[in-house]
Amino acid sequence: MEIGILGGTGPAGRAIAARLASVGFEVILGSRNRYRAMEACDGLLEKWPDHGLAIRSGDNASAAAAPVVVIATPWDAAAATARSVADHLDGKVVVCMSNAIARVAGEFQPLVPPRGSVAASVQAEIPDAFVAAAFHHVPATELGNLSHEIVSDILICSDHEAATETVSEIVSRFPGSRPLDAGGLSNAMAIEAFTAVLLQLNSRYQTRVAVGLTGIGDS
Ligand SMILES: NC(=O)c1ccc[n+]([C@@H]2O[C@H](COP(=O)([O-])OP(=O)(O)OC[C@H]3O[C@@H](n4cnc5c(N)ncnc54)[C@H](OP(=O)(O)O)[C@@H]3O)[C@@H](O)[C@H]2O)c1
Repeated sequence: MEIGILGGTGPAGRAIAARLASVGFEVILGSRNRYRAMEACDGLLEKWPDHGLAIRSGDNASAAAAPVVVIATPWDAAAATARSVADHLDGKVVVCMSNAIARVAGEFQPLVPPRGSVAASVQAEIPDAFVAAAFHHVPATELGNLSHEIVSDILICSDHEAATETVSEIVSRFPGSRPLDAGGLSNAMAIEAFTAVLLQLNSRYQTRVAVGLTGIGDS
């Protein structure tokens, strides 16, 4: 299956592109500028020559033509970016990984975007797409490091069962990761905001924390 990344040239977009390609997806890494996308794509292929990554570059519209699309832009650009390619997104699963977070006086703090979460703002712009919120709390450094598994629960929110299922199937392919259905899109607000807490912990303890919930499937 082909997966397109909007805003694929940043750390998050490059990381998810590499990880998806490493487990067999064909990836179209998109950008507002196709030359930037080409550079990012070449960088990934050079970095991981032994993984046979099927990643190609394009503009955001080419990426949006894929059957599943990930939005990896800054939070305040996510809804507008979805709107800019809305014609391509009807009836598709669109995964939003953007967090509305600011760093104020050295501390990470959550912001409240319109409709409570970035994912909900995106869904409002593309009502005929099936938006899911996921991957918010996985640092790009972990997501994009193909030498290591991502040992983490991945929380997924959507108002569309099919979207949650699709993202769960994708995550199930990542060694070490467990997809968890965390409810409807209204819960994306909590997950996006909680990411500020995780970033703060990383900063305070000079580490990279991962989400691992107990009590589900424990024997
Ligand atoms: N970095 C992480 O570890 C991480 C992990 C999980 C989730 N996230 C979330 O993922 C999102 C992206 O993170 P990032 O660190 O990769 O961000 P970023 O580098 O600031 O931005 C990603 C890409 O978005 C595009 N972009 C920037 N401004 C834009 C605008 N005004 N309109 C449209 N596109 C724009 C740019 O691509 P072009 O200029 O090539 O179009 C840029 O390379 C954030 O919301 C973040 O919270 C990040």
